[in-house]
Order: sequence, then C-alpha cells, then structure tokens
Amino acid sequence: MFDEKLFRETLDALLRDPEIRKMKQYHQHAGGNTYSHSLDVARTSMAIARRLPFHVKERDLARGAMLHDFYLYGTDDMPYTAYQHGRRHPQVSYENASRRFRLTATEKDIITSHMWPLTLTHMPRCRESVIVSLADKYCASREFILAFRRRARQFLTDRRR
Ligand SMILES: [Fe+2]
Ligand SMILES: [Fe+2]
Repeated sequence: MFDEKLFRETLDALLRDPEIRKMKQYHQHAGGNTYSHSLDVARTSMAIARRLPFHVKERDLARGAMLHDFYLYGTDDMPYTAYQHGRRHPQVSYENASRRFRLTATEKDIITSHMWPLTLTHMPRCRESVIVSLADKYCASREFILAFRRRARQFLTDRRR
C-alpha cells in the first residue's frame, strides 16, 4: 500500500541538496537543529502513513515534511517573539521552499498548515498535511520533554557541586 521505497528515495534526494543541509546550522528552542527536527518529522510521518488503510502521496509527504520548517534562521537570533515565529514561519518556509523547488499544491498545503490551529486560516486540507501536522507536534513535544529533562539533570548536578 504505502511505497516506502519511493518515500525514502524522494527524501534522500532532498537531503543531498545544499540548501537543505544549511538547516543544520539553525538551532531550535529545544536544543536540536532544524535539519534533524525535519528529518525526525519526515520519518515519523512515514511511520504514521505506513499504518493507514488509505493511500497517501509518498513523494508529497516526504517533501512537505522535510520542507515544513524551511524558514532558514535560528530561533536564538530571530527578529520575532516565539508567538510571532509560531504564526509566521509556515509562510516564510513556503516562500523559501517555492524559490528553491517546484512545489505541488499538496506540498504547499503541508508547509503552510502544519502549525494549525495556531495559524487559524491555514487549516490542513489534505490527509498528507494532517499527518505532518501530527508528526510535527509529536516530535516537538518529545524534543521539549528531553530538553527539560536534560536541564533538570544539569541543575541537580550543579547543585551537588
Ligand atoms: Fe514549524
Ligand atoms: Fe516543525
């Protein structure tokens, strides 16, 4: 049902792109970088899609997931508040991605709606967008929990000294 080979080939082709690799230099709030986060979201999207009883567009899912946070700035040195970043970065990511790649309507929808319901008017309109939006929330929550645990452990270690 789900063509895993097609998904992986599409993702691998994107990972070779120098602009995509640039995401490694941009840090995120929870400590990782945009590249590792996006790759995590792509892999989680595949894990969800593989289990679904209906067809999902493998190419669009892989590309939309990998490009959903293609905003190309670090959250440490951004000109926005966290709230503004949350609302604006889907559009910024879409503009950057469409300058670099020829996007399908589904890929555009995945990128622009992934923060819904924070971006009120950009609701996911296809199943691929719902999958990436869920995968993103799952991965981001896990990153925050891990970062919180790391900081708590560090705090306790420092106090014992
Ligand atoms: Fe995002
Ligand atoms: Fe994300």
